[in-house]
This record gives sequence, C-alpha cells and structure tokens, in this order.
Amino acid sequence: MATKSKKKAKIEIENNEDLQEEPLAVMPTEDEAPEVKIDDLPGVGPATAEKLREAGFDDLLALAVMSPGDLADQAELGEAVATKIIGAAKKMANIGGFVSGDALLERRREVLKLSSKVQSIDDLLGGGFETQALVEVYGAFGSGKTQIGHQLAVNCTLPMSEGGFDGDVFYIDTEDTFRPERITQMARGYGLDPDAVLSRIHVARAYNSAHQMLLVDEIKRMSKGLNVKMIIVDSLTSHFRAEYIGRGMLANRQQKLNRHLKDLKQLADINNALVLVTNQVHSKPDAMWGDPTKPIGGHVLAHASTFRLYLRKAKAGRRIARLVDSPNLPDGECVYQVTQEGLRD
Ligand code: GTP
Ligand code: MG
Repeated sequence: MATKSKKKAKIEIENNEDLQEEPLAVMPTEDEAPEVKIDDLPGVGPATAEKLREAGFDDLLALAVMSPGDLADQAELGEAVATKIIGAAKKMANIGGFVSGDALLERRREVLKLSSKVQSIDDLLGGGFETQALVEVYGAFGSGKTQIGHQLAVNCTLPMSEGGFDGDVFYIDTEDTFRPERITQMARGYGLDPDAVLSRIHVARAYNSAHQMLLVDEIKRMSKGLNVKMIIVDSLTSHFRAEYIGRGMLANRQQKLNRHLKDLKQLADINNALVLVTNQVHSKPDAMWGDPTKPIGGHVLAHASTFRLYLRKAKAGRRIARLVDSPNLPDGECVYQVTQEGLRD
C-alpha cells in the first residue's frame, strides 16, 4: 500500500528540486490506496501467496499486524519466512512508524455511525455506534443485551441514508440465543423483506472458547466479496467464564481473552467496522467474585472496549442504558423499550 503522500511527493519532487526529502507516512484512505497485492511482496512466490490467501490474508495490513509465530501457525509457513513477510508488509503498508495528528484525524473521518433508530440511544452515543470501535454491552440476564445485538444486526443492513451501513454482519453466537424469527419481526418493523435482511447476517454457533476464537479467523476468510461492517459476539465471556474456573486459571483466561479482543479489534480496524460484544455481570456478590453490577472480564475488557453500555430493566417494561467510561462523551443514561418490532423510544 503506497500512500497518497508518496504519490503526491513524487510529483512534487519532479517539479521542485528542493524537495528531496523522504515523504512522511500518512494513513491512506481506501479509495486513494493503489492496489499492492500480497504477490508483490519480496520473497512471496505464487505458492506462498496461495497459502496466505487460504489462511485469509489477502491484504498487506492484515499481514503487517501479525506476529511471526501466529502467521507461521495460521498459514503453515516457517517462522523465518513469516518474519520476512511481516517485515515487508509493514514497509509496504506503511504502518511501521508514527503518523501525524492530521493523518489520524483523516482516519477518524472515515468513522461511520450506526443508528440504533432509537433517538435517546443515538443521542447518548453522540450519534450512534461507531466503526473502528469495540462496544461492550453488559447487564444482568434478561436485561436486553441479545435484543440490542439482533436490532443492530438488522440496522446494519439498512442503507446509509437510513442510518445503516448497507453492510454484512457476522454474528458469533455462544449461548444459542440467535433467533432468525426475531430478525424477521424486526425487519418487518421497518417494512423490510426479512429474507433479504437474514441473507446478510452470517451466524455461527461457538461451542467453546477455542472455537469462538477460531471463528474470528473464519470471518477473515469469509469476508471476501462482502461488505463486513459489523461483528457481534454474544456472549463474549460465557465460555471463558465456564471453562476457566478459579483463581489459578485467571491469568490464563485473561491472556486468552486479551488475544481474542485484539483479533476482534483488528477486524474492526481493517474493515472500518463495528464490533459489539455482550457480557454478563458478576452473579455472586462476595469478595471473591466482586460487585454484582460489575462486568466480567476485568481490566482486559475495560481496556479493550471503546464504549461500554450498562443495561438494566426498569418499571413498566422500560429499559435503561447507561454509557460508562467513554473516551470522548459524557457519562449518561437513556430510556427505551423493547417491543415486538424491536427497540423503540
Ligand atoms: P442473557 O443473555 O440471559 O444474559 O440476557 P439478555 O440480556 O441477552 O436478554 P435478552 O436480550 O434476551 O432480553 C430478553 C428480554 O427481551 C425478554 O425478557 C423480553 O422482555 C424482551 N423481549 C424479547 N423478545 C421480545 C418480543 O418479541 N417482544 C417484546 N415486547 N419483548 C421482547
Ligand atoms: Mg443474551
């Protein structure tokens, strides 16, 4: 991926002899980036390129952010080869160094906001659910986490003009609570063809935490030809919590969870997509298990999530969502309802 600044700088150097300096790295926007294929990387022959593609790596950025050990594992390469490829991809993807604040601003300008179609929720989030972000929705059982997942999956398929992303959704279902019938109800609520909506929501049941982590790689593989705009993991923590029991397993669990979150965040960055994960709260309010209104996952998850929404039930079928610890928005609450047609003001 050569950059806009390189192209521009080249022309300027040709026109101006004083300009001989190496151009600064600027993050390219998608439409400006000229096609550099993985086959163009030095040391990557057709066979290696094929291996990389089969493992789901078809662009430079995806390669550049890998660790040699992981790339070697996933693409079945030697670690030395993997190291070389990553090095080359880093150079060509131009992500090896610092970028200027205005370049970052440029990348932030690509951020899209998905409307919940509930005014109070969108207002709370400063306009909607952002791409390039990881949103954690947590709350007690029955608080409406899965309902939000279903609703946003439907909304993601809406055209941009209606607050959607005209996008495809990947839904990792760990608790067997994804219901196509519910998607159908919500689609009808907008007067949409339910089958058309369902065809853009790709669902996989995760049977354990290792499978859940592998499914993220599967998303990379399957995303060719799709406009991946949202990844949902409902629930992020249930398998981890069930499998890694007791203090002795905690460090191991947190390490795995951290890895999983990094992989998810990478999908969000590469696709300019939104990642939404759901999480339970601690159920046993004793010293060992902590505050019953605190989400599971501790610091690892708190650090990884860009936005955290705490859901709870209120009287008369109303729901309350609370925004917690946002980097650039005030904490606050909003009220909404879950109806047959979906979330409403
Ligand atoms: P756990 O996964 O068990 O932790 O809960 P959750 O937070 O995912 O809860 P979920 O999103 O499954 O919310 C379930 C609640 O949504 C139900 O108790 C209902 O109040 C509401 N709900 C689900 N479907 C409908 C529906 O078709 N109509 C209405 N009015 N409410 C619904
Ligand atoms: Mg649920």
